[in-house]
Amino acid sequence: MKREIIITSDGSSTIHIPEWDEQYHSKHGAIQEAYHVFIKNGFQYFNELDSSTTNQNISILEIGFGTGLNAFITFIEAKKLNRKIDYFGVEAYPVSFDEVEKLNYSKTLESGQYDDVFSKMHNLSWEEKHEITKDFSLTKQKKFFDEIEAINQFNIIYFDAFGARVQPELWTELIFLIMYKALKTGGVLVTYAAKGSVRRAMQAVGFTVERLPGPPGKREMLRATKAINN
Ligand SMILES: C[S@@+](CC[C@H](N)C(=O)[O-])C[C@H]1O[C@@H](n2cnc3c(N)ncnc32)[C@H](O)[C@@H]1O
Repeated sequence: MKREIIITSDGSSTIHIPEWDEQYHSKHGAIQEAYHVFIKNGFQYFNELDSSTTNQNISILEIGFGTGLNAFITFIEAKKLNRKIDYFGVEAYPVSFDEVEKLNYSKTLESGQYDDVFSKMHNLSWEEKHEITKDFSLTKQKKFFDEIEAINQFNIIYFDAFGARVQPELWTELIFLIMYKALKTGGVLVTYAAKGSVRRAMQAVGFTVERLPGPPGKREMLRATKAINN
Protein backbone atom coordinates (compact mmCIF):
# COMPACT_ATOMS: atom_id res chain seq x y z
CA MET A 1 0.00 0.00 0.00
CA LYS A 2 1.15 3.55 -0.77
CA ARG A 3 2.46 5.49 2.26
CA GLU A 4 3.23 9.21 2.50
CA ILE A 5 4.72 11.41 5.20
CA ILE A 6 2.47 14.17 6.58
CA ILE A 7 2.83 16.77 9.37
CA THR A 8 0.40 16.61 12.31
CA SER A 9 -0.95 19.52 14.41
CA ASP A 10 1.95 19.57 16.91
CA GLY A 11 4.48 19.83 14.07
CA SER A 12 5.62 16.20 14.28
CA SER A 13 5.45 13.92 11.26
CA THR A 14 3.55 10.69 10.75
CA ILE A 15 2.79 8.28 7.90
CA HIS A 16 -0.53 8.48 6.05
CA ILE A 17 -2.05 5.57 4.09
CA PRO A 18 -4.28 7.17 1.42
CA GLU A 19 -6.05 3.93 0.48
CA TRP A 20 -7.36 3.56 4.05
CA ASP A 21 -7.36 7.27 4.99
CA GLU A 22 -5.50 6.10 8.10
CA GLN A 23 -2.41 7.46 9.91
CA TYR A 24 0.27 5.87 12.08
CA HIS A 25 -0.58 8.51 14.71
CA SER A 26 -3.27 11.08 15.49
CA LYS A 27 -3.52 13.99 13.05
CA HIS A 28 -3.96 16.17 16.17
CA GLY A 29 -0.31 15.57 17.11
CA ALA A 30 1.79 12.42 16.76
CA ILE A 31 4.18 13.22 19.62
CA GLN A 32 1.41 14.54 21.88
CA GLU A 33 -0.62 11.36 21.36
CA ALA A 34 2.35 9.03 21.89
CA TYR A 35 3.38 10.88 25.03
CA HIS A 36 -0.13 10.94 26.54
CA VAL A 37 -1.21 7.37 25.75
CA PHE A 38 1.99 5.36 26.04
CA ILE A 39 4.37 7.38 28.23
CA LYS A 40 2.09 9.14 30.73
CA ASN A 41 -0.60 6.45 31.07
CA GLY A 42 1.66 3.47 30.39
CA PHE A 43 5.34 3.84 31.26
CA GLN A 44 5.10 6.62 33.90
CA TYR A 45 2.04 5.00 35.49
CA PHE A 46 3.74 1.61 35.73
CA ASN A 47 6.96 3.18 36.99
CA GLU A 48 5.07 4.77 39.89
CA LEU A 49 3.26 1.50 40.73
CA ASP A 50 6.56 -0.32 40.62
CA SER A 51 8.62 2.24 42.55
CA SER A 52 9.89 -0.33 45.08
CA THR A 53 11.74 -2.31 42.39
CA THR A 54 13.46 0.45 40.44
CA ASN A 55 16.60 -1.64 40.09
CA GLN A 56 14.71 -4.16 37.91
CA ASN A 57 14.33 -3.78 34.16
CA ILE A 58 10.90 -2.88 32.79
CA SER A 59 9.99 -5.04 29.83
CA ILE A 60 7.87 -3.32 27.14
CA LEU A 61 6.19 -4.87 24.09
CA GLU A 62 5.10 -2.56 21.30
CA ILE A 63 2.34 -3.76 18.99
CA GLY A 64 3.30 -2.07 15.76
CA PHE A 65 6.90 -0.73 15.91
CA GLY A 66 6.17 1.40 12.80
CA THR A 67 8.07 4.69 12.81
CA GLY A 68 9.89 3.92 16.08
CA LEU A 69 8.47 7.06 17.73
CA ASN A 70 7.24 5.20 20.84
CA ALA A 71 10.56 3.42 21.26
CA PHE A 72 12.45 6.71 20.91
CA ILE A 73 10.36 8.68 23.43
CA THR A 74 10.48 5.71 25.82
CA PHE A 75 14.28 5.82 25.56
CA ILE A 76 14.30 9.56 26.37
CA GLU A 77 11.83 9.14 29.26
CA ALA A 78 13.76 6.17 30.69
CA LYS A 79 16.84 8.39 30.92
CA LYS A 80 14.83 10.98 32.87
CA LEU A 81 13.30 8.36 35.19
CA ASN A 82 16.56 6.46 35.50
CA ARG A 83 14.86 3.14 34.59
CA LYS A 84 16.34 0.22 32.69
CA ILE A 85 14.26 -0.98 29.76
CA ASP A 86 14.05 -4.11 27.61
CA TYR A 87 12.01 -2.98 24.60
CA PHE A 88 10.45 -5.37 22.06
CA GLY A 89 8.88 -4.05 18.87
CA VAL A 90 6.77 -6.35 16.68
CA GLU A 91 6.14 -5.23 13.13
CA ALA A 92 5.11 -7.07 9.94
CA TYR A 93 5.73 -4.23 7.47
CA PRO A 94 8.83 -2.22 8.52
CA VAL A 95 9.20 1.36 7.31
CA SER A 96 11.89 1.97 4.70
CA PHE A 97 15.17 3.87 5.32
CA ASP A 98 13.84 6.51 2.94
CA GLU A 99 10.80 7.04 5.15
CA VAL A 100 12.88 7.09 8.36
CA GLU A 101 14.99 9.92 6.94
CA LYS A 102 11.88 12.03 6.34
CA LEU A 103 10.54 11.67 9.92
CA ASN A 104 11.27 14.77 12.03
CA TYR A 105 11.13 13.32 15.56
CA SER A 106 14.69 14.09 16.60
CA LYS A 107 14.25 17.70 15.50
CA THR A 108 10.75 18.17 16.97
CA LEU A 109 11.70 16.58 20.30
CA GLU A 110 14.92 18.62 20.41
CA SER A 111 16.55 15.43 21.56
CA GLY A 112 20.05 16.82 20.93
CA GLN A 113 22.46 14.34 22.48
CA TYR A 114 20.22 11.37 21.49
CA ASP A 115 19.81 12.28 17.82
CA ASP A 116 21.77 9.26 16.64
CA VAL A 117 19.64 6.88 18.76
CA PHE A 118 16.58 7.21 16.50
CA SER A 119 18.43 6.20 13.33
CA LYS A 120 20.33 3.52 15.25
CA MET A 121 17.01 1.96 16.31
CA HIS A 122 16.04 1.61 12.66
CA ASN A 123 19.44 0.48 11.39
CA LEU A 124 19.80 -2.39 13.87
CA SER A 125 19.08 -5.89 12.60
CA TRP A 126 15.81 -7.68 13.30
CA GLU A 127 15.34 -10.79 15.51
CA GLU A 128 18.31 -9.95 17.75
CA LYS A 129 18.64 -8.19 21.08
CA HIS A 130 20.77 -5.03 20.85
CA GLU A 131 22.09 -2.91 23.70
CA ILE A 132 21.39 0.66 22.54
CA THR A 133 22.97 1.67 25.86
CA LYS A 134 23.72 -0.40 28.94
CA ASP A 135 20.27 0.62 30.26
CA PHE A 136 18.15 0.15 27.14
CA SER A 137 17.94 -2.95 24.95
CA LEU A 138 15.90 -3.18 21.75
CA THR A 139 14.67 -6.37 20.08
CA LYS A 140 12.74 -5.92 16.84
CA GLN A 141 10.74 -8.88 15.59
CA LYS A 142 9.38 -9.01 12.06
CA LYS A 143 6.19 -11.01 12.39
CA PHE A 144 2.41 -10.78 12.64
CA PHE A 145 0.78 -9.96 15.96
CA ASP A 146 -1.10 -13.27 16.06
CA GLU A 147 2.26 -15.09 15.94
CA ILE A 148 3.31 -13.73 19.35
CA GLU A 149 3.83 -16.64 21.74
CA ALA A 150 5.38 -14.92 24.78
CA ILE A 151 4.06 -15.99 28.19
CA ASN A 152 4.32 -13.80 31.33
CA GLN A 153 7.13 -11.77 29.76
CA PHE A 154 6.14 -8.09 29.65
CA ASN A 155 5.31 -5.41 32.23
CA ILE A 156 3.76 -3.05 29.68
CA ILE A 157 2.19 -3.44 26.24
CA TYR A 158 1.84 -0.41 23.97
CA PHE A 159 -1.08 -1.57 21.79
CA ASP A 160 -0.73 0.67 18.75
CA ALA A 161 -2.37 -1.22 15.89
CA PHE A 162 -4.27 0.59 13.12
CA GLY A 163 -7.85 1.36 14.07
CA ALA A 164 -10.67 -1.18 14.15
CA ARG A 165 -12.28 0.63 11.19
CA VAL A 166 -9.50 -0.68 8.91
CA GLN A 167 -8.17 -3.73 10.78
CA PRO A 168 -11.07 -5.08 12.91
CA GLU A 169 -9.32 -8.46 13.19
CA LEU A 170 -6.66 -6.88 15.45
CA TRP A 171 -9.16 -5.76 18.11
CA THR A 172 -10.67 -9.15 18.94
CA GLU A 173 -10.70 -11.48 21.94
CA LEU A 174 -8.24 -13.69 20.06
CA ILE A 175 -5.62 -10.93 19.92
CA PHE A 176 -6.27 -9.66 23.46
CA LEU A 177 -5.89 -13.19 24.83
CA ILE A 178 -2.42 -13.30 23.23
CA MET A 179 -1.68 -9.95 24.92
CA TYR A 180 -3.06 -11.12 28.27
CA LYS A 181 -0.84 -14.21 28.22
CA ALA A 182 2.20 -12.18 27.16
CA LEU A 183 1.87 -9.80 30.14
CA LYS A 184 3.18 -10.54 33.61
CA THR A 185 0.66 -10.41 36.44
CA GLY A 186 0.25 -6.76 37.41
CA GLY A 187 1.22 -5.67 33.92
CA VAL A 188 -0.68 -3.06 31.91
CA LEU A 189 -1.74 -2.63 28.29
CA VAL A 190 -2.45 0.88 27.00
CA THR A 191 -4.09 1.91 23.76
CA TYR A 192 -5.47 5.05 22.15
CA ALA A 193 -8.72 3.20 21.35
CA ALA A 194 -11.83 3.60 23.49
CA LYS A 195 -14.60 1.72 21.65
CA GLY A 196 -17.04 -0.25 23.78
CA SER A 197 -16.50 -3.40 21.70
CA VAL A 198 -12.73 -3.19 22.30
CA ARG A 199 -13.23 -2.71 26.04
CA ARG A 200 -15.59 -5.70 26.18
CA ALA A 201 -13.15 -7.91 24.22
CA MET A 202 -10.42 -7.01 26.76
CA GLN A 203 -12.71 -7.75 29.72
CA ALA A 204 -13.80 -11.07 28.19
CA VAL A 205 -10.22 -12.41 28.28
CA GLY A 206 -9.68 -11.33 31.91
CA PHE A 207 -8.41 -7.74 31.83
CA THR A 208 -9.59 -5.09 34.29
CA VAL A 209 -10.19 -2.04 32.09
CA GLU A 210 -10.15 1.70 32.88
CA ARG A 211 -11.38 4.49 30.65
CA LEU A 212 -9.02 7.47 30.87
CA PRO A 213 -9.09 10.95 29.29
CA GLY A 214 -7.71 10.71 25.76
CA PRO A 215 -5.01 12.72 23.98
CA PRO A 216 -5.90 15.93 22.06
CA GLY A 217 -8.78 15.21 19.65
CA LYS A 218 -9.99 12.08 21.54
CA ARG A 219 -12.33 11.98 24.52
CA GLU A 220 -11.10 8.69 25.98
CA MET A 221 -8.46 5.94 25.81
CA LEU A 222 -8.15 2.55 27.55
CA ARG A 223 -5.79 1.01 30.06
CA ALA A 224 -6.15 -2.74 30.74
CA THR A 225 -4.52 -4.40 33.74
CA LYS A 226 -3.75 -8.09 34.24
CA ALA A 227 -4.88 -7.95 37.84
CA ILE A 228 -3.08 -9.85 40.55
CA ASN A 229 -6.20 -11.65 41.83
CA ASN A 230 -7.33 -12.98 38.39
C1 LIG B 1 -0.71 2.60 13.98
S1 LIG B 1 0.72 1.97 13.17
C2 LIG B 1 1.97 1.90 14.40
C3 LIG B 1 2.54 3.12 14.82
C4 LIG B 1 3.82 2.91 15.58
N1 LIG B 1 3.58 2.46 16.94
C5 LIG B 1 4.56 4.20 15.51
O1 LIG B 1 4.79 4.84 16.54
O2 LIG B 1 4.92 4.54 14.40
C6 LIG B 1 0.36 0.21 13.13
C7 LIG B 1 1.54 -0.65 12.75
O3 LIG B 1 1.16 -2.03 12.75
C8 LIG B 1 1.74 -2.68 11.62
N2 LIG B 1 0.87 -3.83 11.32
C9 LIG B 1 -0.36 -3.81 10.74
N3 LIG B 1 -0.90 -5.05 10.76
C10 LIG B 1 -0.01 -5.87 11.38
C11 LIG B 1 -0.03 -7.25 11.73
N4 LIG B 1 -1.07 -8.03 11.49
N5 LIG B 1 1.06 -7.77 12.35
C12 LIG B 1 2.15 -6.97 12.62
N6 LIG B 1 2.21 -5.65 12.29
C13 LIG B 1 1.14 -5.09 11.71
C14 LIG B 1 1.76 -1.61 10.56
O4 LIG B 1 2.71 -1.88 9.57
C15 LIG B 1 2.07 -0.35 11.36
O5 LIG B 1 3.46 -0.13 11.46
